[in-house]
Amino acid sequence: SGSIAVACSSPPPTQRFITPDDPEIAARDRAAAAAMVVPMALAARPVTVDLGGVVANTWGFGAAAVGPEIRLTAGDRLRAEVVNDLPVGTTIHWHGIAIRNDMDGVPVLTQEPIAPGQRFVYDAVMPDPGTYWYHSHSGLQLDRGLSGPLIIEDPNESLRYDHEWTVFLKDWVDGVTGTPDDVLRELTAGMPGMSGMNGESGTATARPQYLLTDGTSALLGGDAGDVNYPYYLVNGRIPADPPQFTAKPGDRARLRIVNAGADTAFRVALGGHGLTVTHTDGYPIEPVRADALLLGMGERYDALVTLKDGVFPLVASAEGKNARGLAIVRTGPGEPPPPDVPVTELDGRIPMAWDMSASQAAGLPRRDVARTLDLRLTGEMSRYEWSIDGIPFDPTDVESNRFGVRGGERVRLVWRNDTDMWHPMHLHGHTFQLAESGSRKDTVIVLPKTALATYFDTDNPGVWAFHCHNSFHQDRGMMGSVSYE
Ligand code: C2O
Ligand code: CU
Repeated sequence: SGSIAVACSSPPPTQRFITPDDPEIAARDRAAAAAMVVPMALAARPVTVDLGGVVANTWGFGAAAVGPEIRLTAGDRLRAEVVNDLPVGTTIHWHGIAIRNDMDGVPVLTQEPIAPGQRFVYDAVMPDPGTYWYHSHSGLQLDRGLSGPLIIEDPNESLRYDHEWTVFLKDWVDGVTGTPDDVLRELTAGMPGMSGMNGESGTATARPQYLLTDGTSALLGGDAGDVNYPYYLVNGRIPADPPQFTAKPGDRARLRIVNAGADTAFRVALGGHGLTVTHTDGYPIEPVRADALLLGMGERYDALVTLKDGVFPLVASAEGKNARGLAIVRTGPGEPPPPDVPVTELDGRIPMAWDMSASQAAGLPRRDVARTLDLRLTGEMSRYEWSIDGIPFDPTDVESNRFGVRGGERVRLVWRNDTDMWHPMHLHGHTFQLAESGSRKDTVIVLPKTALATYFDTDNPGVWAFHCHNSFHQDRGMMGSVSYE
């Protein structure tokens, strides 16, 4: 289902930022012509979805709070026809994919928004295997139902497992107690927290932002501006009616965990089990053991787990909150545990991306750094204004917060966080490396008052957005772009 077989009459998208005679592009277009085409139809429209006994009026791609899982094999060509039946413009971004720039789905930077009643065909080769996701890149639409998993299978997969489970996490307010725009209004009015929500209205005490790292565990605190979402969803379901994964005792499952939330870091653990972490943002690492994983917005981890006999809670605890999302893993009969069952793994060993190393095949080749980009993350909670080097991004100006690099360079990109809170920073079109042999990531948590060096190669010409993946920070200016031919 979801496939279409109609001939599409949209004009080919104009390539405004890449030179068609670039040999690399020409080679890619030849690859595209030979690739297997996977058609997909996505209609963005107002929908009523069932979160598991709670009904939400939202904008989505179908009858659920999560869009359909798109699954291809690396080298396939995705041909997604997006029809916009929303009352406002939209675009779709393919998060983490080294996609051709004109298909990247960023309003103003790479395309005009798809107007209401119009359609756009995203047509591009998916070059690298991994766990990715897609989402609207317009306004706060990500915080509605306009996102879903994008799984690129590896034709040469070497991991062995019996099951593969996508764990897609969201914080959710839309159409239940308000809209994302209401949330932003409250944040910018200096009164974080939706009034009436969770009975916590006005609890804007200045909790400090903190991280504890003792080598075995790490913790991101909440902050005064955190929104009190009424629900945390796993695969579009609330804890009262959780999704279930079933297997046999002794089976091995691969978890593909995606934090698609707008404003929430999730700490994920499977009660009674340890995890073997195998991938960061789609790229293989030297496997590490974990009791739990901590994911900022936009981040993904893959992990293997060997299942015991019983019924177990798979918990996504909202960091800094006393609230969680839940799924049930079942390998035998029995009552599911209560939604608030204690899970000690949540407080166990939590390796962070900077504790991990890319697998040998996934590392960037050694090379001299040609340029350093030092990006200061700036802004403050009190005015709820966020920026890069003190300048908020202007969404109407393609040159806003533009940083120049040249093609063919190794770039050292330093995220320098001058603010009092953590930011999950995302670069489009590239998967950078943390330190010189660290894990590959496209989204990374940058802690308060710290600087984090990342490395990438300018091998994918175009205009590439970078921004904080907290939707509200992004919307309020913590965004910019790099550009090269
Ligand atoms: Cu997933 Cu520009 O974002
Ligand atoms: Cu941020």
